[in-house]
Amino acid sequence: MTQRMKLGVDGPECSRIIAGFWRLKEWGMSPDQLHGFVHECLDMGVTTMDHADIYGDYTCEWIFGDALSAGETRIPDSLRNRMQIVTKCGIRLQHSRTRPGIQHQHYNTDARYIVKAVETSLENLHTDYIDVLLIHRPDALMNADETAGAFEQLRKAGKVRHFGVSNFTPSQLTLLQSQLPFSLVANQIECSVMSINPLHDGTLDQCQELHIAPMAWSPLAGGRLFAESSERAERLQTVLGSIGGDAGGLGIDQVALSWLLQHPSGIFPVLGTGKLERVQAAVEAMDIALSREQWYRIWSASTGTPVP
Ligand SMILES: NC(=O)c1ccc[n+]([C@@H]2O[C@H](COP(=O)([O-])OP(=O)(O)OC[C@H]3O[C@@H](n4cnc5c(N)ncnc54)[C@H](OP(=O)(O)O)[C@@H]3O)[C@@H](O)[C@H]2O)c1
Repeated sequence: MTQRMKLGVDGPECSRIIAGFWRLKEWGMSPDQLHGFVHECLDMGVTTMDHADIYGDYTCEWIFGDALSAGETRIPDSLRNRMQIVTKCGIRLQHSRTRPGIQHQHYNTDARYIVKAVETSLENLHTDYIDVLLIHRPDALMNADETAGAFEQLRKAGKVRHFGVSNFTPSQLTLLQSQLPFSLVANQIECSVMSINPLHDGTLDQCQELHIAPMAWSPLAGGRLFAESSERAERLQTVLGSIGGDAGGLGIDQVALSWLLQHPSGIFPVLGTGKLERVQAAVEAMDIALSREQWYRIWSASTGTPVP
């Protein structure tokens, strides 16, 4: 069973391992198979589901909601109450087949846009509320008062219970937080053994300081950790493989996830696989305890430098 932890100071309790649905269309699952996949995840304790309005060219939320509601208008309470749904808005895709008309990709965090985007997500996900809404990417034109106003309106209406951001720098997060009467609960960022900037650019420091949950997207570098033929990936494969071997045959994926899980900011890895055995391996990674020496060996393999 995967551990559970509260997001932020007063956010919902979520599973430490989160299931991400960006690649859902690539998995080619039938509605029944998707239904089964979600149930198996829940049974393993992976109860937090990560979406965004744009995934699959604006189709993944609907594929998910439609499969889980099984012909009804809403996901049944018995199932909905077992999970936490995270979704995101703010990106306007160019050349979308399902929403044509945008010639140049851009961001929108205006109040009216956010409220409308959430209402569409609720319809697509076949649910009455979103547990956590994230602004998908920082918008250079974000008016923090206005974005905060949209959050308050959505919260009062019961449409969204908690709010966070994604890919925000510490100062961008501080700005939005400064206009809100409640705490942001998460910052979803790219973080893995191959993307270690958040460790050193203040992002994870801020999460620890404010007790905001860092969610790590592409926690296995989007699969590049296994497939890339760079010197860095090879160094990491060697070190992760050796640590996993010494521990009695743990996989590279498991050691890479435990490296994230061990960080004191309380990282929630967001997985991108549709394969249950890989979700199960991630859940088992919760039990791995790396020594500081092992943790820094992995850091050195990532940076290509000795620890100074
Ligand atoms: N906030 C943002 O801006 C943002 C951006 C990107 C993603 N996300 C979220 O983060 C989630 C995860 O991102 P991600 O898909 O890049 O995560 P990931 O877990 O790092 O990468 C998933 C990819 O790695 C492969 N993989 C996983 N385990 C493997 C193994 N043991 N051996 C070989 N290949 C393996 C998977 O292949 P298989 O399918 O074959 O398992 C899949 O192609 C997304 O679903 C989305 O929810 C958020």
